[in-house]
Amino acid sequence: MLVLGIESSCDETAAAVVKDGRTVLSNVIASQVEEHKLYGGVVPEIASRRHAEAISGVVNKALSDAGTTLDEIDCIAVTYAPGLIGALLVGVNYAKSLAYAKHLPLVPVHHLRSHIAANYLSHPELEPPFLCLVVSGGHTHLVQVRSYTEFSVIGKTRDDAAGEALDKAARAMGLPYPGGLHLDKESVGGNPKAFRFPKPRVDGAPFDFSFSGLKTSVINLLHNTQQKGETIDLRDLGASFQHAVVSILCEHTAAAARETGSRKIVLAGGVSANSVLRRRMEETCKSNGWTLFVPEKPLCGDNAAMVGAQGYYEFCAGSRAGLGLNAYATMPIEAAAF
Ligand code: KG4
Ligand code: ZN
Repeated sequence: MLVLGIESSCDETAAAVVKDGRTVLSNVIASQVEEHKLYGGVVPEIASRRHAEAISGVVNKALSDAGTTLDEIDCIAVTYAPGLIGALLVGVNYAKSLAYAKHLPLVPVHHLRSHIAANYLSHPELEPPFLCLVVSGGHTHLVQVRSYTEFSVIGKTRDDAAGEALDKAARAMGLPYPGGLHLDKESVGGNPKAFRFPKPRVDGAPFDFSFSGLKTSVINLLHNTQQKGETIDLRDLGASFQHAVVSILCEHTAAAARETGSRKIVLAGGVSANSVLRRRMEETCKSNGWTLFVPEKPLCGDNAAMVGAQGYYEFCAGSRAGLGLNAYATMPIEAAAF
């Protein structure tokens, strides 16, 4: 079965053709990063306009790269939530038009579910149930993936997402957008123990996260140093901050794995590309006898192949949307399908 996946939740316009939820036949991404870089972050109005300009060409390229046409596509899957509303609407409306014109089933896909599904493309043997740490720019969730379409959130951030904390710290250190990616590159070789950061815990909720205090402490440290006219080794600072964020992510994931008895641990979302997180989580899993699954790096960030993968499983579970499908800025991952 061929699924055409469409993704436009943030700043990548993406389309892909995926076979039976597991094989990527094409994966096209038009990134807007260079433009948003000028402003230090995503400008929603610009993102929507660039999606509108790019989407038609991106979908056509995904079809031609896959050596197929719309006549051979069996289903259209589209990200409908969560994300920037104006950005999501471009993909949703485009998908609706294609579904209507070609009499194809339309399957709405939750963005975080699709990040998890990126792992089905990288690991043909991976099947639920498993425990997943979803770490993206806007979300930090510990999710029990009970089946391809059943999810329970057992922990999440009470304030900033891990990606957001990395991005804001990187920005304060003068690194370009997207900060997390540049912080990862620039911190290689830095001393992770040069600076100590607090390790916040949420009382009574051992799997919940809080990153805003950590973010504020790195920003304060930079301001204080600046005011005193002192210099600071940014490589050491970056390595120490990443070490602090990653330690919290690994410790909470390990606690949740013990509590739930999960032996399969999965990473998902843009921050899962982080080299320190990948290495430290591998060590954590190895020492506990758990198996770790991470997406290949190109599938960690936003893409439409993951939408095609999750769309296949949502289709198999009977999910269908009508032409009244809307986009939503927020939506719990557990929300029942359509
Ligand atoms: O999943 P994603 O592409 O978009 C959202 O759904 O939010 O995640 C974007 C986030 C940003 O915070 C970005 O800085 C972060 O992923 N990111 C990284 C790396 N690559 C992307 N963070 C740390 N290390 C990386 N290598
Ligand atoms: Zn994402």
